[in-house]
Amino acid sequence: MIDHAPELEVFGSRSLAEARATDIIIAQVEQKPESVLTLPTGTTPIGVYRRLVQAHEQGLDFSGTTVFNLDEYWPISNSHRSSYASYMDKQFFDHVNIPIENRHIPNGSAENVSLEAARYEMKIRELIIDLAFISIGPGRTCHIGFNEPGSLPSSQTRCVELTPETLEANCKNFDDDEEMPTGAITQGIKTILVAKQILLLATGESKAWGINRSLSGEISPEAPASFLRYHSNVSFVLDADAASQITPEK
Ligand code: GLP
Repeated sequence: MIDHAPELEVFGSRSLAEARATDIIIAQVEQKPESVLTLPTGTTPIGVYRRLVQAHEQGLDFSGTTVFNLDEYWPISNSHRSSYASYMDKQFFDHVNIPIENRHIPNGSAENVSLEAARYEMKIRELIIDLAFISIGPGRTCHIGFNEPGSLPSSQTRCVELTPETLEANCKNFDDDEEMPTGAITQGIKTILVAKQILLLATGESKAWGINRSLSGEISPEAPASFLRYHSNVSFVLDADAASQITPEK
């Protein structure tokens, strides 16, 4: 497999990086109204969703767009305030005109999680993802979606156990430890890599180590985001903090 260098765009502020990522998504939807997008959750994309909602208010039409979310906790009730289903409604879906039947997210309350993961993967494979918009986990997780260290490039949508570092980073969204799911359903590395184009947005110092590790060193399961280098059309849109540990020769 060829090691492609992702295209790097570094901006002086978080807001500028968010604006650039938004412009890439808007251009995709304008150029192809029936675009199929992969979308993420977390703090990072919130400013992008806000801008996309503004663009919609100013006329951007999402009526042909299809979305596949990257991941969802498991087990979790869809209506739980910290489910990714609730997040997507609140941050994006409730404010734009993507048809309900075109909004896809793994079912965190599925009883048979393997079956649900297989169903989700098959649903994605019925279409071709035009643009996968993703972010990266904090610290040394280097995860994309919930593909934690150890994930293989051949991985497809599946149920995973969250690592202690991810649980610690994400527990702020839950009232107590009891309530926080310890698993998730995530698109696999391969599922992400079959997208035609990948856009990774990372902002803040907590992403600096992971960004540098993704771009340098061995492409390996220990740093799942490093597998993005197997794809020939990946853009990393970063603010200066997230780019701060990139070694000069990269
Ligand atoms: C979760 C998601 C990831 C996301 C990460 C980053 O772990 N599963 O897809 O990249 O959060 O979150 P944040 O943007 O809040 O740093």
